[in-house]
Amino acid sequence: GKGAAMVTAVAYRLAIQQAERKLILDTLRLSREQLLEVKERMSDAMLKGLSRQTHQQASVKMLPSFVRATPNGTEHGDFLTLDLGGSSFRVLLVRVRAGTKHVEMNQKIYSIPQEIMQGTGEELFDHIVSSIADFLEYKGMKGASLPLGFTFSFPCYQSRLDKGILLKWTKGFKASGCEGQDVVKLLKEAVRRRMEFDLSFVAVVNDTVGTMMTCGYEDPQCEMGLIVGTGTNVCYMEEMRNIERLEDDEGQMCVNMEWGAFGENGELDDFCTHFDQTVDETSSTPGKQRDCEKCLMELTNKGLLYRGKVSERLKTHGIFETKFLSRIESDRLAMRQVRSILQHLGLTGSTCDDSVLVKEVCSVVSRRAAQLCGAGLAAVVDKIRENRNLNHLSISVGVDGTLYKTHPHFSSIMQETLQDLAPQCKILFRKSEDGSGKGAALITAVACRVRQEQSE
Ligand code: GLC
Repeated sequence: GKGAAMVTAVAYRLAIQQAERKLILDTLRLSREQLLEVKERMSDAMLKGLSRQTHQQASVKMLPSFVRATPNGTEHGDFLTLDLGGSSFRVLLVRVRAGTKHVEMNQKIYSIPQEIMQGTGEELFDHIVSSIADFLEYKGMKGASLPLGFTFSFPCYQSRLDKGILLKWTKGFKASGCEGQDVVKLLKEAVRRRMEFDLSFVAVVNDTVGTMMTCGYEDPQCEMGLIVGTGTNVCYMEEMRNIERLEDDEGQMCVNMEWGAFGENGELDDFCTHFDQTVDETSSTPGKQRDCEKCLMELTNKGLLYRGKVSERLKTHGIFETKFLSRIESDRLAMRQVRSILQHLGLTGSTCDDSVLVKEVCSVVSRRAAQLCGAGLAAVVDKIRENRNLNHLSISVGVDGTLYKTHPHFSSIMQETLQDLAPQCKILFRKSEDGSGKGAALITAVACRVRQEQSE
């Protein structure tokens, strides 16, 4: 009768909705073949960045860091460290004692107001220097003159350890007049303007390099650094003979890949969905987590979620933060709690079915990010293995970054992918606590030791 027909109609509509949902989500799934292709293209991009002829056009810049060895335990002294470019701006005092492998750290977190981030370079560096001055006073060291490790997590051309020309700002920083300038010079000029303390030496260190060094302090097999957070990037020990833009052919040097730019030459176009395009078009700092936001919008617009009602809050750029992604995907979280997170995002009236779908969207998006990361890493470890003519390579990677540390599945998916795509390599991941600050101090310590040896 009529009832049966209605049931059939409803069932039919549900089936169509299911199929539509699946279609949308399937565009975000990557096959093994596609991931192998990503690995291949990353390998090519690395060679392009290293080669003298093609470096200019390369998307992945492969920047020499002038760090030539991992620490050996003889590093010694007191150092200041600045950490700019992560989730918070910090000033640290790091005490390194030779032979003990014990590092004592004191830090203070400072804020960088939005208007300073987007003001002039002078304002930004004056602000940084006033934070250092405040920190020295707080430590009872007013007027001190210490060496400083500057963890500056942006792409820099380095021709020496104590010089770093900022190529371009990333991650939402915009301060004017800095691109194309040596950030050590900008910092020292600001120190001079203030006339309150001095810096005896400044080393420029990318956060990946700092993380690798910290990890290398305990584990000599650590020859890579990985960050998955506000930005993502990798560094590793490369053979000097392969870094064509440097004359010297002896030994090794750590290379800051700046792999966040991978794709700028179209390397990922084949795998991009319209979500990625929207993310790119609407933000200056595309982050994986925002994919998720756009995906939820799409599903809502199509009436497949929340009965088609898009909340104003969900339309807000950047509202879907990594922490929600991590929490929603946590296995212990009941659907009821997923709903309460969604309500927080202004998505009231979500049904249980909606929550299930949101969780699925989150998991597809983060799986894709983790797999892309794993495929990229596979290219790097195989390069290191081939550099050394080895059948099997066994190394460790120092890792830091909020997404990596807080997400319940990201690291395991990334590692599975890596294992699958680079089966001849055995890779141990070591989470680093405060890696970049400590690492920058170790790098500065080595540089100071060498300088002293040379002057003696
Ligand atoms: C961005 C920066 C890079 C940094 C990474 C992680 O990609 O360009 O230098 O290592 O973020 O913080």
